[in-house]
Amino acid sequence: MKVLDGTSVRLRPLRAEELGTVHAWYEDPELVAPFDRFETEPFDAFERSIAAAEHDPASLAPRYAIEVRSTGRLVGVVGHYRAHPILEYLDVWYLLGEPSARGRGFGREAVGLLVGELFRTEAVERIGAVCDVENAPSYRLLEGLGFRREGTLRSALFHHGRWHDAYTYGVIRSDWTGSAPRA
Ligand SMILES: CC(C)(COP(=O)(O)OP(=O)(O)OC[C@H]1O[C@@H](n2cnc3c(N)ncnc32)[C@H](O)[C@@H]1OP(=O)(O)O)[C@@H](O)C(=O)NCCC(=O)NCCS
Repeated sequence: MKVLDGTSVRLRPLRAEELGTVHAWYEDPELVAPFDRFETEPFDAFERSIAAAEHDPASLAPRYAIEVRSTGRLVGVVGHYRAHPILEYLDVWYLLGEPSARGRGFGREAVGLLVGELFRTEAVERIGAVCDVENAPSYRLLEGLGFRREGTLRSALFHHGRWHDAYTYGVIRSDWTGSAPRA
């Protein structure tokens, strides 16, 4: 797996000693899923899912750590997965587990690096993402990268005691103008 450098953040493989930190993020519902379904997973299952992800295009396990280049601090994770059994596209997802790192453009830069890498290395024409209609940080991040809102999936997501609508977003290869990682 490559290291992808942006201006402020670096995407790189997660280190074994960081898995506890990421798992602890996953155990905090309001941190990891303020607008999403929350599930717990034992640490050993989480660890195994990361090892297995390399050979599983549908895996929801993190694929890269997000590190702040100036400090070397781990602040989040990103992933991608084959989202549909027949349609040929990948969805991306993203989490800044350190709240102090939010709202500083790190999320958008990290997802931009990931999408650029996927268009370079995968035979897909479309990269998508879905988010709760109330998750403004998520859909504004996507719009800032040139993703287009393609529709609303009604009552697609159950969390916090009720069904929620979700937006579906996508960007196609010919529209992608995102910045490439620095050499
Ligand atoms: C979604 C998430 C990754 C965004 O990362 P981030 O680094 O904070 O986002 P950025 O700083 O790159 O900002 C992206 C856009 O969201 C906007 N934004 C950030 N925080 C916001 C907030 N609390 N409310 C409204 N908009 C917000 C920014 O202004 C920016 O939009 P703009 O360019 O139009 O001004 C982060 O909030 C997070 O990890 N949330 C929890 C997990 C999650 O919801 N993941 C997505 C699941 S679909």
